[in-house]
This record gives sequence, C-alpha cells and structure tokens, in this order.
Amino acid sequence: MADGNTPGRVFDPTAAPGVTIKSDRELRSMREAGRVVARTLELLAGALAPGLPTRELDRLARKEIKALGARPSFLGYLGYPAAICVSVNEEVVHGIPGDRVIKEGDLVSIDAGAIVDGFHGDAAVTLAVGAVTGDRKALVEATRTALERGIEAARPGNRIGDISAAVEGHIRPLAYGLVREFVGHGIGRKLHEPPSVPNFGPPGEGPLLRPGMTIAIEPMVNLGTWKTKTLDDGWTVVTLDGSVSAHFEHSIAITETGPEVLTAL
Ligand code: MF3
Ligand code: CO
Repeated sequence: MADGNTPGRVFDPTAAPGVTIKSDRELRSMREAGRVVARTLELLAGALAPGLPTRELDRLARKEIKALGARPSFLGYLGYPAAICVSVNEEVVHGIPGDRVIKEGDLVSIDAGAIVDGFHGDAAVTLAVGAVTGDRKALVEATRTALERGIEAARPGNRIGDISAAVEGHIRPLAYGLVREFVGHGIGRKLHEPPSVPNFGPPGEGPLLRPGMTIAIEPMVNLGTWKTKTLDDGWTVVTLDGSVSAHFEHSIAITETGPEVLTAL
C-alpha cells in the first residue's frame, strides 16, 4: 500500500506517506529473506582471509544466495554490478567487489541483500582481518553497539527520531565521524522504501513506529571526519580524509512487543 495503511485498517493520519505495513504472511517472507542474508554473511565471514580478492566474496555470495533459493537484491539495482558490497578500510559503503586483495589488519564491511517471495532482506557487518589495531577494533565495537541501541529504540509508540537519537547518542561522546550523507531505510517489496532512518537527529520526531513496519538501520562510523566522497566508479563511498570506516546493518520488524531482527546472524 502506498498510503501507509493496511487494507481493513482505518486511515491513520500519523502514517508517513509510502510507509508500508506488512501482514503476517508478508512478514514470513521478510523473515525468510533475512535468513538468507544472515546465512550468506556468515558464509562470507568464514571465507574472509588475507590474500583473497574481494571479487571472490561476490562469487561465493552469488552461489550461496542462489543455493538458498533466493535472488541477490543489489545485482542490477540502479545498475549496481555485483551481488554484495565489499568496503575495505577507508571505503565506507557500496564498494564494488573486484581486484582489491584483503590484507591482515584490514576492516572489511560486507553488505548483502536477498529477495524471497518478492521481499527483500538487507544487512551488513564489519569484520576485522586477523589482528587489527586497537583503534580499529574499538571503532568496530562502537558501530556494532550503536546499531544495537538503535534496534532497542525500534518499538511501537517511538518515532524514527528515537532510533536516530539512540544511534547518535552512542557515537557522539566518542571522537568518531558519524556519517550523515547515507541513511537507513524502510524495506519490503522494494529494497529502499520510506521512511528514511538517519543515524543522527533529535528524539521524538519523524514517523511513528507501528507494528508491521520493517526498516533497515545502518550506522556508518569513521575513525576521522564524518565527511565522505564517491569515487569515479559512481558507487564506492570513501572517507574524505582516508580514515577507516565501519558499517553494521540489520533489517528489523516492529512488533507489538518490540523489535524483531529479521537478519539475525
Ligand atoms: N545496504 C545498502 C543500502 O541500503 C546496500 C545497497 S547497495 C546497492 O544502500 F547497490 F544495491 F545500491
Ligand atoms: Co540498507
């Protein structure tokens, strides 16, 4: 539905335009898509090793997503040429798998999406390759925790701004750059649906969270400046100062009793 209202429910003026409410049956498909994404990320995490070209991760992802009876969400999306994004070190998001070779000490963000029964799942993790420096490790942990805080705020009665404020509230006291130019999003029959889910902003604002809403929360945090730029390939987003970056993402459903993580590993 394009008006944020479920068939059979009365019109709700607090629903944001374009926000969809998933039925129980639709949520079952979302769970299945989320499970495919989680299993794919787990496989890739196990395969990640120094010496591996990032292209190899994409090959494994395509094979796994297909074997699980799903299709990759990203391949062909706005012309994107791969099934996953692999963003190494200073790459923030949307790194295109290719010839870059993974090294010991790298931070590697892997973002994967899959479609089942017409519904998308979308999740990302940042993995440390072997022994990484303490500041890199701390960045990864802070970003993972920021996502957890955001998820905890994703309950009925709260608003999108409460998720944003929870993420920002965890990162702000730390001397990191919290990326502002890319945000989380609603997810469902489309990979990107309303509403936007920023990783910053005041609590108590934005669309009301209601059971049946499904969203992807995805904080991106840099060791240096929050500013980013996009490379000439039209996709790869890097930090403006070349500092390393971390990214975690889960697709979640808002339920009566709180958040349900659809892409739980
Ligand atoms: N998680 C990313 C996002 O929501 C993945 C998109 S990659 C793309 O933007 F290639 F599909 F755009
Ligand atoms: Co996403």
